[in-house]
Parts: sequence; C-alpha cells; structure tokens
Amino acid sequence: MKPFDTYTTLVTAEREKRANFHTMLSCVMPRPIAFVSTISADGVNNLAPYSFFNGVGSNPPAIIFSPCTRADGTDKDTVINLRAVPEMVVNVVPYDVRDAMNQASAQYAPEVDEFDAAGLTPVASRFVKPPRIGECPVQLECKLVQIVKVGDGPLSANICIGEIICFHVADGFLLENETVDIAKIDLIARAGGDWYTRITDRFELSKPAAP
Ligand SMILES: Cc1cc2nc3c(=O)[nH]c(=O)nc-3n(C[C@H](O)[C@H](O)[C@H](O)COP(=O)(O)O)c2cc1C
Repeated sequence: MKPFDTYTTLVTAEREKRANFHTMLSCVMPRPIAFVSTISADGVNNLAPYSFFNGVGSNPPAIIFSPCTRADGTDKDTVINLRAVPEMVVNVVPYDVRDAMNQASAQYAPEVDEFDAAGLTPVASRFVKPPRIGECPVQLECKLVQIVKVGDGPLSANICIGEIICFHVADGFLLENETVDIAKIDLIARAGGDWYTRITDRFELSKPAAP
C-alpha cells in the first residue's frame, strides 16, 4: 500500500448544492437505510426511506436519520409528522422489500396512507403510535429526542435523533447472543446515484492487541 500521488480538490462553497449532494452520495457509502414510519396529527400513517442514517451510542441506544428540506424549501412529511407526534419506527430493509421501499419514496400527498400505497402491512407497535412494517424482520420503536437543523433552505438537513425504546426481531433472526443474524437478514444499503448494494461478501478483522 502506498499514498496516492495527486488529488482533485472540490471546494464545496464554490460548487452547486446538487453537485455537492451527488459527490457526497458517491463517497459516503454504502449507507444503511432507515425505512421510517411516522403518523400525522390527523392519524395518517407515513413511510419514507432515509439513507442518511446510523446508530449513535448505546446509553441510551440511539439512532439518527436526516430528511433534507425539499428543493422548494418545504419540509418532508416525516419531519412535519415528528413535530406533531414525536415518535417513529425505524424498520430495516432486506432485499425482498426493495421495491416497496422504493415506491414509498415517491412524494405522496400527506393524506395518503403510504402502507397502502407501497403494499406493506402495518403492525401495531407496543410503545409508540406509528405502526411497524410487517415485512421487515427488524423494527426499532423510537421516541424523538430532538431535531437538529444544519443549514437553511433547500437540501438543508433536519437531523432527527431518536432513542430506541425496543427492538423487535422476527423469529429465526435472533442469535443466542441476542445479536441479529447478519447473514440471514440480507439487508440492502444505498450507494451513489441509483445504485444499491447487498451484503454478499464479508470478511472478519480481529481487534488489535492493546499497544
Ligand atoms: C433508498 C433511499 C434513501 C433515501 N434517503 C434519503 C435521505 O437520507 N434524506 C432525504 O431527505 N431523502 C431521502 N430519500 C428520499 C425520501 O425517501 C423521499 O423524499 C420521500 O418522499 C420523503 O417522504 P415524506 O415526504 O413522506 O417524508 C431517500 C430515498 C430512497 C429511495
């Protein structure tokens, strides 16, 4: 292994927002996908996938995901719903759910129940109002901690921080040590452009010995 000789430097402040967005998507990847269910003040279920998503900390166990502001500067339904009902379910996305997940990313009107639109099964949650997605093998019931704004206007971030209240793991996916069987779960992740990836190739790396 040796260092690269030269680099092209793209200065974000000198570039179009969209160009920064696409460059970022192709280098910060693969990104896991949170398939998020929320509920509106009027009780309408909403679904949307978010790949600006990760787990952050475990005391308490917490997740973040980030719906950006739309190109016209308005907030996505997920954010509007979370301000009204600060609870969500983060469902993980296996390969079999990819088409329904993609369908749910279309911009439906707020009065449309996106479980119906995507052909997915709502299952009552135990601690929160939004339902879980029955076709997803792992679902995290979460309470909203905070929404943090980064930037202003179109494509700015709304980082939604959630505390995980419980994990639901479908029968057959939980190992004896209470981790999820990563070989069986067959999750997909987002890459750049319209590309996705699937974990079909893995390797193990032991932790280094203490220096
Ligand atoms: C795989 C995938 C990942 C996505 N990730 C994000 C994301 O991280 N942030 C975002 O703002 N939009 C993301 N989108 C687009 C939203 O899902 C889309 O704007 C959706 O309509 C928002 O729904 P809502 O208005 O019902 O909240 C993603 C779409 C797909 C298909």
